[in-house]
Amino acid sequence: MNLLITLLGKATGYFTLVIVFIAAILNYRDYSDPVTFTSMAANMESLEEEFRLQNKSCFIMGATGETGSLLLKELLDRNLFSKITLIGRRQVTFEDKAYEKLVQEVVDFEKLEEHTTAFQGHDVGYCCLGTTKAKAGAEGFIRVDHDYVLKSAELAKAGGCSQFHLESSKGADKSSSFLYLKVKGQVEADIEALAFDRFSIYRPAVLLVERKESRAGEWMARKVLSSCSFMFPSMSVPIQAVARAMASNTLLKPEQKTEILENKAIHTLGSSPTT
Ligand SMILES: NC(=O)c1ccc[n+]([C@@H]2O[C@H](COP(=O)([O-])OP(=O)(O)OC[C@H]3O[C@@H](n4cnc5c(N)ncnc54)[C@H](OP(=O)(O)O)[C@@H]3O)[C@@H](O)[C@H]2O)c1
Repeated sequence: MNLLITLLGKATGYFTLVIVFIAAILNYRDYSDPVTFTSMAANMESLEEEFRLQNKSCFIMGATGETGSLLLKELLDRNLFSKITLIGRRQVTFEDKAYEKLVQEVVDFEKLEEHTTAFQGHDVGYCCLGTTKAKAGAEGFIRVDHDYVLKSAELAKAGGCSQFHLESSKGADKSSSFLYLKVKGQVEADIEALAFDRFSIYRPAVLLVERKESRAGEWMARKVLSSCSFMFPSMSVPIQAVARAMASNTLLKPEQKTEILENKAIHTLGSSPTT
């Protein structure tokens, strides 16, 4: 019995060491991300003023979700756009007066070609849309996270939108053998082929969020990661940081048409002080 307890103790110890080792590698890899936004973020106030003067309009998909709703709040608080349109599958009621001038377009994502007008005339598009395999099944997940997102991007491009900001995921890779990462990587690649003037991809790690809906796996990961997030910041990110990074990054002028903000860049840009 004593031997069994000793062996179990050792096994747990080794397992913990392996987890910490993998986490450290992932952390190091993300920290080697060459993109640094610190100096650009310092200039945020004047960039905001300059941007407001351009009277741009935008649309948000997924604004009823966790990241999307915070992104909407961020854009409204900072008053960056003269017009904001929410494109979603349902009408939303807002109590706050700040939300009064929003335009809402309710669309059937299975028949997006019937909703071309909803996608017309926007300067900037944000996409925080997504589901999970657990909720929608493998086919449903591909349908939402790839097909809906790509078709919407196509319609937006055809409607005159010049920049598209996509919330993707850490590890997105169209060659991955994991469905989730493969689909995320594939939609990134397919949207890049549409050749927007600017395409910004955000690849957050595990989102730190008190989610309204229960997701057991994500809840476990969040509990573990939030307690040690200061040690391994590349493995998680608060949704507030993602929303702020998406808004702030819109004000910057990247050197390349397609840019990828890995988790570290999201932390940097998302924690920068704003007005
Ligand atoms: N969870 C993570 O740790 C994690 C990490 C990295 C990246 N991401 C990615 O980040 C993105 C945003 O995640 P989130 O957790 O903020 O999203 P979320 O809270 O789950 O919200 C998802 C949004 O997509 C919409 N949506 C879902 N299924 C739909 C369908 N069948 N038809 C039309 N709309 C649909 C929802 O609309 P309704 O409100 O109408 O349902 C909602 O607005 C997702 O693409 C996700 O894969 C997540």
